[in-house]
Amino acid sequence: MACQYFAPCEHGAESFTIDIPKVTFGRGVLKEVGERAQALSMTHIALFTDGYLKDGAYVATVKKSLEDANIPYAIFSDIRVEPDDVCVDDATRFLNSSDFDGVISVGGGSVIDVAKAAMACSKNPHPVRDFFAPPVGEGRPISGPLYPHIACPTTAGTGSECTSISVIRIKELNTKFVFASQHMLPDVALIDPTCCDSLTSNVVASTGFDLLSHALECYTAKAYTQWAEVKNPNARPLTQGANPWSDLAAAKALEIAGEYLVRGVNDASDQEARDQLMWGASLAGMAFGNSGTHLPHALSYGVTHLMNDITTDGYTIESPFVPHGISVIVTAPATFRYTAAATPERHFEAAKYLNADCKGAGVNESGELVANRLIELMRQTKIPNGLSGVGFGEDDILNLSHSSIRQARAIGNSPRETNLVDIENIYKDALKYW
Ligand SMILES: [Fe+2]
Repeated sequence: MACQYFAPCEHGAESFTIDIPKVTFGRGVLKEVGERAQALSMTHIALFTDGYLKDGAYVATVKKSLEDANIPYAIFSDIRVEPDDVCVDDATRFLNSSDFDGVISVGGGSVIDVAKAAMACSKNPHPVRDFFAPPVGEGRPISGPLYPHIACPTTAGTGSECTSISVIRIKELNTKFVFASQHMLPDVALIDPTCCDSLTSNVVASTGFDLLSHALECYTAKAYTQWAEVKNPNARPLTQGANPWSDLAAAKALEIAGEYLVRGVNDASDQEARDQLMWGASLAGMAFGNSGTHLPHALSYGVTHLMNDITTDGYTIESPFVPHGISVIVTAPATFRYTAAATPERHFEAAKYLNADCKGAGVNESGELVANRLIELMRQTKIPNGLSGVGFGEDDILNLSHSSIRQARAIGNSPRETNLVDIENIYKDALKYW
């Protein structure tokens, strides 16, 4: 690869692997789910959704399509936002309760992630916690194949339909952790942007910043060549660092976020913007699903772990609750100010993709360019003003830092080697932006 960012390193990886589902995008594609299920030889389907969507139009479309295809199904809908390991246990019991041979998930990232985790636990009978990396879990590998899986997202943010990653809260620790396996990658992603038509502006803002940060973290992640070489090709993690493939999808997703995020949040009738955000979310999923995220996501887990209070308008969940995209973006400007020192050119390119005003600016100003563009977008979409906007103060910095330092893989994917003191300083810088 003739790109300086991916220059070979001693003992570093010399190759990268790309894995994405069969992706179909377009208005009305949910109607295809029955035929897609037939093509995957599904004869009895476990249909995962949440209590809010269960009786709504999207699940009705999926049910009708399955009935037209004469494929029986049963529904599991006891999934809340920010699902925990208890929810996964319930979902696994449901999956084990009958002779299901296929899974369909209809919902946001929470639903799709529970479906993935339940499939892993059903075929590998252990508590989900065992699959997380030590010290939280045992780092137990997941054997596959699991069930064939058709993922149908109903929000434009997580990109979970295109990743092999599941994010689950460990109830006992009250913290979310990430685990991944190539076997958890959905076979088919049916991405129907009509699902975003009725989302509230708060949800579009939160999920939109999630997609934006996925793309930005992916584009600025440590190069895959800087990670140690993996001897067993089947064990190569897809969270392998930035690579030429993830660059392509992340760059386009950044352009989409820069152009359409404010429009999609502030005008529910702007179908073009919302459709583009849906596509951008999936593109970002295909990107970071093959590279991994880094510090903004790592630091977000401290925020959701220790959250004090925040408005939850637009979400069917009681306070305190910080929507995922908001927990990510409140520290992002401070984080990119910090990481830009390591790879200023990459950050400069990212600022340009985000449509930042780079006229007359030099590469050494790239951290400020990215941060200022993020702050501008946050203000235009009424995102809380940094950590103080979600109820944190100076006294919380130490606890936030100790909580987030446990996210070892994401921290290791930072382009700048990062320690606890650096994380404390990023949180301090993230308290307030304007
Ligand atoms: Fe995310």
